[in-house]
Amino acid sequence: SEQAADALVFFGATGDLAFKKIFPALQATARRGRLAIPVVGVAKAGWNLDQFRARAKASVEAHGGLDPAGFETLCKQLRYVDGDYADPGTFEALRRELGGARYPAHYLAIPPALFGPVVEQLGKSGCTQGARVIVEKPFGRDLDSAQKLNQTLLGSFHESSIFRIDHYLGKEPVQNLVFFRFANSFLEPVWNRHHIASVQITMAEDFGVQGRGAFYEQAGALRDVVQNHLLQILANLTMEPPVSTSGEAVRDEKVKVLRAIPSLKPADVVRGQFRGYRDEKGIAPDSQIDTFAAIKLSVNNWRWQGVPFYIRAGKCLPVTATEVLVRFHRPPVPYVANAPANYIRFRISPDVAIALSTMVKAPGEAFTGTPAELIAVHHPDGAEMDAYERLLGDAMKGNATEFAREDYVEEAWRIVDPVLGSVVPVTEYEPRSWGPAEANRLIGSDGPWHDPAVRQAN
Ligand code: BG6
Repeated sequence: SEQAADALVFFGATGDLAFKKIFPALQATARRGRLAIPVVGVAKAGWNLDQFRARAKASVEAHGGLDPAGFETLCKQLRYVDGDYADPGTFEALRRELGGARYPAHYLAIPPALFGPVVEQLGKSGCTQGARVIVEKPFGRDLDSAQKLNQTLLGSFHESSIFRIDHYLGKEPVQNLVFFRFANSFLEPVWNRHHIASVQITMAEDFGVQGRGAFYEQAGALRDVVQNHLLQILANLTMEPPVSTSGEAVRDEKVKVLRAIPSLKPADVVRGQFRGYRDEKGIAPDSQIDTFAAIKLSVNNWRWQGVPFYIRAGKCLPVTATEVLVRFHRPPVPYVANAPANYIRFRISPDVAIALSTMVKAPGEAFTGTPAELIAVHHPDGAEMDAYERLLGDAMKGNATEFAREDYVEEAWRIVDPVLGSVVPVTEYEPRSWGPAEANRLIGSDGPWHDPAVRQAN
């Protein structure tokens, strides 16, 4: 549906996601003069509209700051419906609140277990006609549950009206992986198995589960960030050029490259848990959940066959940074002793950079080299448009390019499915370390792992 939405409804309006992401994104949209539709919050909190507005205010104050004009616009658009999701009366009230809106967008910022009941009530109350639905991760917890969730949504919405958010797809540097690859002709000749020796993706966080223990116990690093965010990064790095920039053409290529990735085997996976995790609130004393995961993948297609891809993600690591390192083969004859292999480094967060490594002659008498990075972009932390603001805007416009399609989500689960749970034992690691030593064995002679620096100087 390329039709622009004429109302935004969000369920879970008093919840955490709304507080952290949705209100700030809406204020930013309003600030740009782009919020011209009613925004209806739905929740069961016993609140009225004034209390709801107060919550919105507290949210923007806590996340980025109050912009008086933007916030005023947002406040004018806010509506609120209080009620239980099991009560048809809630949805009748919503229907009234929607008035003449013909293309509402329903954002389900609620646990996936509630998707079914809410979608059913939306249908019964006539709120699904002309509507689209936006859903949040976690989108299932394995292949089977993801398929069931898809069936639930597809029972009431056409695939083209379903927008599955993976907020990494809303990040400019993640979009730039694709843009940079296909907008520069020098890259294509080397972007393949003949020139690239290995690829690493590291997502490091220097904090633990921050009070989200109950959620995290059901997830772990593989489910929480590898299956979604990091496989999306991998797809952007490896997919073939789409036949056009249309959403479906792009999404076709992403699914296609995932199909070339064999499902993981236990030997390709290292799971770790930081010491002290079990003492956190909501965590089982004998928890087997991975707060760290490292995997080795292959992409068995014409372009990538034989190139190892390593992905690693963890909590309580030494830094908070996400970075991709694409390493090239070494020159055939060692021209300079111990010259490191060239690489391209994509810094995704917190700051953004694309850097090409080179070796140049060191000044002076000796014929020796020194490494130098050519920096193509470098934006400081916070310079990017917020991912939620971008994605909400896209969903309102009906542009699904940066949303996960049904077949993509299921392929991604298919890849990790065999190693979910405790198939691979979990190994303890020291907080503030780079995870268990097993991760070094996994990467072996393709290593060492590239540890992202705290923050690159300008
Ligand atoms: C979320 C995960 O999807 O992404 C969190 O549930 C993680 O565990 C977060 O911390 C990281 O997002 P960002 O945008 O801060 O890198």
